[in-house]
Amino acid sequence: MMKIRKVVIPAAGWGTRFLPATKALPKEMLPLADKPLIQYIVEEAILSGMEQIIIVTSSGKSAIQDHFDRDFELEYILEQKGERGLLEEVRRIADLANICYIRQKEQLGLGHAILTAEEFIGREPFAVFLPDDIFDAEVPLLKQMGEVYQRYQGSVLAVRRVAKEETKRYGIIKPKQIEERLYQVLDVVEKPEEAPSDLAILGRYILTPEIFEALKTTPPGWGGEIQLSDGLALMLQKQAVYGYEFEGEYYDAGNPLGLLKATVALALSHPQIGADFKEYLRGLSTDL
Ligand code: UTP
Repeated sequence: MMKIRKVVIPAAGWGTRFLPATKALPKEMLPLADKPLIQYIVEEAILSGMEQIIIVTSSGKSAIQDHFDRDFELEYILEQKGERGLLEEVRRIADLANICYIRQKEQLGLGHAILTAEEFIGREPFAVFLPDDIFDAEVPLLKQMGEVYQRYQGSVLAVRRVAKEETKRYGIIKPKQIEERLYQVLDVVEKPEEAPSDLAILGRYILTPEIFEALKTTPPGWGGEIQLSDGLALMLQKQAVYGYEFEGEYYDAGNPLGLLKATVALALSHPQIGADFKEYLRGLSTDL
């Protein structure tokens, strides 16, 4: 059976929900506590054992490439200033991983972004990590899902129960439970009016390469975009797809309120600033 070695990180979207912050800055470079969102994702990919990272970008996203590159001038200045800790951190980021970049020339949707990576992936199962979705889990989600993949040999989606009124914001599965926490996916509907369940797909996937054939015949769906959910709905007619209710915390960093909530949660557990930040929040809560 084939090992999962490659991960696609789609980062070519417009990030309209964050305007004006994202007019000149890629959404994926917005900071969460003290790191840009995409750094959390790349670090998680490495922890999950990924050997090759493919980031799908678009025009105006060069800050992402710069972030993971060496910057000799900055390193020189930090060295001159005697900032050893910062220097090591800046070098560590550049040495994190070998990253390939591929451009999605037109923003035709998440499904289309994944299709642009087909040549890099070839005919092997692969992972997809969405940079908007941040997880805090003892065992990285991909490791939890990989165990299901090994037993069932099909695509695995990370799912979680959401409140009824939230279902219209997500891709929702129609589930058939087969084990504790594990479902066969009978259908997928993107942002449904009438949700088939309360199990939402979140941004971690293990996909078999048959997804590419499905995406090639997927018509534009919600928002006029080629949706990954619609590609999955096509694929599961030929090959079983599974949903795994993962263990861990989830933060939706894809909109301003969600990013603020994620910032508070991560800042509170931050080793350097956590204690002071907690004190600050305690002081605030008496005013609210
Ligand atoms: P989102 O819909 O959350 O991102 O897509 P967006 O389109 O950038 O943001 P809004 O909705 O305008 O605020 C999920 C992921 O898919 C990527 C995005 O970059 C994001 O990481 N994506 C989306 C692409 O790479 N290409 C696309 O054509 C669409």
